[in-house]
Amino acid sequence: MTLDVDVLSDVATLNVDGRELELPLIEGSEGERAIDIQRLRAETGLVTYDPGYGNTGSCISDITFIDGDAGVLRYRGYPIEQLAQQSTFMETSYLILNGELPTQAQLSEFKDQITYHTLLHEDIRHMYRAFPLSAHPMAVTSAVVGALSTFYQDSLDPLDDDQVEVSTYRLLAKLPTIAACAHKYSIGQPFNYPQNDLDYAENILHMMFSTPTEAYDVNPTFARAIDVLLILHAEHEQNCSTSTMRMVGSSQANIYASASAAIMALWGPLHGGANQAVIEMLHDVADNEGSGKAFLERCKDRDDTTRLMGFGHRVYKNFDPRALILKEAADGVLRELGRSTQMLEIAQEIEAQALDDDYFVSRKLYPNVDFYSGIIYEALGIPIHTFTAFFALGRMPGWIAQWREQGKDPAARIGRPRQIYTGENERQFQPIEQR
Ligand code: SDX
Repeated sequence: MTLDVDVLSDVATLNVDGRELELPLIEGSEGERAIDIQRLRAETGLVTYDPGYGNTGSCISDITFIDGDAGVLRYRGYPIEQLAQQSTFMETSYLILNGELPTQAQLSEFKDQITYHTLLHEDIRHMYRAFPLSAHPMAVTSAVVGALSTFYQDSLDPLDDDQVEVSTYRLLAKLPTIAACAHKYSIGQPFNYPQNDLDYAENILHMMFSTPTEAYDVNPTFARAIDVLLILHAEHEQNCSTSTMRMVGSSQANIYASASAAIMALWGPLHGGANQAVIEMLHDVADNEGSGKAFLERCKDRDDTTRLMGFGHRVYKNFDPRALILKEAADGVLRELGRSTQMLEIAQEIEAQALDDDYFVSRKLYPNVDFYSGIIYEALGIPIHTFTAFFALGRMPGWIAQWREQGKDPAARIGRPRQIYTGENERQFQPIEQR
């Protein structure tokens, strides 16, 4: 069997046992090329094998472009560095969802819609009482998001544009309220209602930290830091949780069910759960390892399951541009808030040693978005077990945009990968007396 790719004619020719099959080449707007294998099995009986889909495109998308070798990340063509510096999370969410930066009127209308939908149905609050106080906020948040499909049964049809639109507002608007209630429940404090005179990031801080016993003034430095963190987490093409959002949505499950599944996928320590794991790792190094060097030796040891959390990435084989932005932001936030820089110094020491160590360099392992984000969250007083829920707050516009794009894609089909079977060949059932 041979495979010849003729770029000029946009065709890959697969020769299987003397029979030739021409497969079209697809080229993206940034010059990425793919072999369209949609006819492969029907014409040759062959399937491809690619555990973790590292070489497999699941869709065609206009939303986000990543060049992992050059450390490039753009939402709808706009570089992440410019959006983090000049935009807001609401404006960036509008861009990701609609494809263009909003006019002032469009942004005001979008923000009004979000503000209008921040309240939870009062009965949802009873759900929290069913969980143990020790419940992880990601488990609670996913359960409550899934339950939204029972409270808002008027907006479940994925094929109805108006219902998808109102569900988009409901998910974006209610997720901060849901996550903040999960935190308040875990510490035995009363839930806070969102305030319509606060913006998105301010409301998050208000719902997370205010109490009925005293006035709470939102710190504008905190609010801007949260807004930038949300922008940096807002979208990232076909990562694990976004692929989950698409997979669940491909069965025409409603948007709340899809988002609930995506939240659970994000929880994993190899994905969004890494931000919590990183800060726990840094505290462990500070309290026990004594130095980053001793810790790094454990991360390199094949017989030790310890991994350098916050390092490595399936796509970025150079720096993750979000990590660079967060590393600079962390230093500024800590100094402005007068917070200890010990965790940041340990992180920087570990990063410097790892980037000077062939084990990490040869495997192209660099800091990713999770390596520095937790240092900022901790400085802002966000509880460690809520870090990943904050990742979900940021990623929700990306999940929804990808889910909606799939719903409009004429080529989209229910997700159903193939496999290579290596189990038993056919055999006859034996009655238990004969076993
Ligand atoms: C996110 O996909 C996205 O876009 C995700 C994300 C987003 O915005 O949605 O960017 C967010 O999830 C970032 C990643 C957060 N996870 C972590 O920080 C966890 C630690 N990192 C790794 O577990 C790992 O690097 C992954 C999961 C991120 C990537 O895994 P891959 O691409 O499957 O790489 P791999 O496991 O095959 O590793 C290749 C080699 C292996 O060594 P060898 O078998 O070749 O000897 O590198 C080693 C691994 O053991 N390796 C690490 C390591 N990461 C990879 N060794 C030590 N520490 C690490 N962190």
